[in-house]
Amino acid sequence: MTTDKQRVVSSGYDQVADAYLDRFGVSAVRQKWLERLIGRLPVTGAKVLDLGCGAGVPVARELVALGHAVVGVDGSRQQIARARQNLPDAVFVEADMCSAVFEAGSFDAVGAFYSITHVPAAQQRRLIADIATWLKPGGILVASFGAGPAGEWTGDWLGTTMFFGHAGEAETLKSLADAGLRVLDSSVETQDNEDAAFLWIEAVRHRDLP
Ligand SMILES: C[S@@+](CC[C@H](N)C(=O)[O-])C[C@H]1O[C@@H](n2cnc3c(N)ncnc32)[C@H](O)[C@@H]1O
Repeated sequence: MTTDKQRVVSSGYDQVADAYLDRFGVSAVRQKWLERLIGRLPVTGAKVLDLGCGAGVPVARELVALGHAVVGVDGSRQQIARARQNLPDAVFVEADMCSAVFEAGSFDAVGAFYSITHVPAAQQRRLIADIATWLKPGGILVASFGAGPAGEWTGDWLGTTMFFGHAGEAETLKSLADAGLRVLDSSVETQDNEDAAFLWIEAVRHRDLP
């Protein structure tokens, strides 16, 4: 279900799509975890879901350049328009990731870079369970979540109103485990391009989901 909070996020990104890319488009931390994801994929030809893909830069762009088939999902019409223009060879869907529907076992990997942190805390557990079903057995999830105390925040960000949600690190790790996603690595990392930290995880889908 799309809530008022998610509408704040999609209309906020409609307004700041270009400003976001200018300010946050380059990050050594994002690049490190993108390379982790790429390192888990076959050399080419994997099917990858990019949740909260933004303008498709840099994540979808690097995956497409390697010959992977990318499906990007974003709730912001303006972000999706930019992604389609930047990457005509990928598939981009304008949708709320919390109500998106994909067939079970559709993807070799799912990436969610700085996007689940905009999902209401109470909806993150269900979203994680959905992601697990969308992955093939043995499929990989690389994602960032909030770090520090759980909570939600709505306020001025990049000149628009934005919402952020964080279920808490322990709760996030429990949701991953309960969904049948075995965490291979996790760490809280401070951004190189802003005064903020995120919990990063790399996880693999068990053969049999609970
Ligand atoms: C911080 S940007 C990250 C963009 C890109 N992944 C990156 O690494 O730069 C977050 C993106 O997630 C999208 N997003 C946030 N919540 C979403 C939701 N519930 N469903 C779909 N997209 C969402 C926003 O519209 C925005 O484009």
